[in-house]
Amino acid sequence: MFPIGIMDSGVGGLSVVKKLREHFPNESYIFVADEAHCPYGIRPTEQIYQFTRQIAHYLIDQYRIKLFIIACNTATAASLPRLQEELSIPVIGMIDAGAFLAAKTTKTQNIGVIATKRTVHSKKYCQAIHHYLPHANVQQQEASSFVTLIENNEMNTALATEEVKKVLTPLLKANIDTLVLGCTHFPLMATTIAKQAPSVHIIDPADQVVCQVRPLVKAQPAKTGDLLLLTTASAKHFQSIAQTFLDDTTLTIQQIDIEGSYENKYAFKLSN
Ligand code: DGL
Repeated sequence: MFPIGIMDSGVGGLSVVKKLREHFPNESYIFVADEAHCPYGIRPTEQIYQFTRQIAHYLIDQYRIKLFIIACNTATAASLPRLQEELSIPVIGMIDAGAFLAAKTTKTQNIGVIATKRTVHSKKYCQAIHHYLPHANVQQQEASSFVTLIENNEMNTALATEEVKKVLTPLLKANIDTLVLGCTHFPLMATTIAKQAPSVHIIDPADQVVCQVRPLVKAQPAKTGDLLLLTTASAKHFQSIAQTFLDDTTLTIQQIDIEGSYENKYAFKLSN
């Protein structure tokens, strides 16, 4: 039985892994956290695309994944249509999922999106929400600092609360009724975010990703596999956050070096 491949720049993608495991417990999952290159959100689009593409090819070659989930909004913005065209397996991203749920949820059409700098600048969320609700008022706020806090396991600190307040203030002033967590890291500090915006509907795009995955996986008669976590940086650092967030101390975590193979097999010229 072939596994589902999932990637993110870091621990954020675990928020997607967690939901998928809850809904499809009999599937096998291989997750790559590209922590050697985290954060993606401040990098150029082409570079993010190349990293995402390498990981996709690595997972296809090494693990014969049957489905590739870009559990990173920044990487989705940079690479989704190109990878959908290039790869022979289905590829699912985060942004359409978040936009769909936001459009379905909002009553006032005042929608807030918090995301990394690169996702905000791509305007992909605005486009996707306007596809469903052409007259929606979409307010975006960059919240890259949350990624650093989460990667440093500081999501439950006073500093995190301060950062959340700072980012949400303009959105609350704009009277949003719905807020999209436009970065997969953010569900890891959803409690802090929800506390600062108690009357706002919080959207986790992963809920809709689950619906998109459902028709692509056949019901497994019995548990066939489990979760393998791969990181391009320190496995120890990744392990503590992963174990706490997934509430699982039996996780297998390995450090991999895609970059070592980068120069040869998984390297792709920017002009390709
Ligand atoms: N988790 C990623 C996302 O959904 C971004 C984090 C980063 O900047 O690396 O956008």
